[in-house]
Amino acid sequence: MFIDIVRSRKSCRLFTDVPLEQGEMDLIMEAGLKAPSSRQLKDVRLFPVRDIGLIRRLALCKPSSTTPLETATFAVIVAADPEVCDVWIEDASIATIMMQLEAEDLGIGSCWVQVRLRSNGDEPAEDIVKREAGLDGNLKMLSIVAFGRKP
Ligand SMILES: Cc1cc2nc3c(=O)[nH]c(=O)nc-3n(C[C@H](O)[C@H](O)[C@H](O)COP(=O)(O)O)c2cc1C
Repeated sequence: MFIDIVRSRKSCRLFTDVPLEQGEMDLIMEAGLKAPSSRQLKDVRLFPVRDIGLIRRLALCKPSSTTPLETATFAVIVAADPEVCDVWIEDASIATIMMQLEAEDLGIGSCWVQVRLRSNGDEPAEDIVKREAGLDGNLKMLSIVAFGRKP
């Protein structure tokens, strides 16, 4: 039952080094991409990250609370185009939790790592994420979701 997924999900901040299967990553992405959005404007952009080196560099976007990205084997950068939809934060948040619930259904751990409104020193975390991942400067960053196998 769906309520069992809701009850069992907990943020996971430590993962084993066993990678996710392609099919599992595809299902997580599908859950995020099928999330409802305001007026179905499709403002949310989801960027899957399988490159472990990049995931570890993304962990440096802020000075604390990025522990999940230190061992994650998969991550999704959750971004949106604010010019497409004014309620992009809501749309991006829904996509984030949809992916986390799909992961839980697959027995995969996940954790939301906040990017929006965070910084590392003087530099906004979202600028660091955009630079490291090579993303469009006009996009806004909400979060990075860390995924991996539970210990
Ligand atoms: C908007 C939001 C931002 C969060 N940011 C972080 C974060 O930056 N780092 C982190 O480790 N956990 C983060 N979390 C996870 C929360 O700490 C976690 O969901 C909360 O403590 C409840 O625990 P649970 O997920 O195990 O139920 C965030 C969660 C939300 C909803």
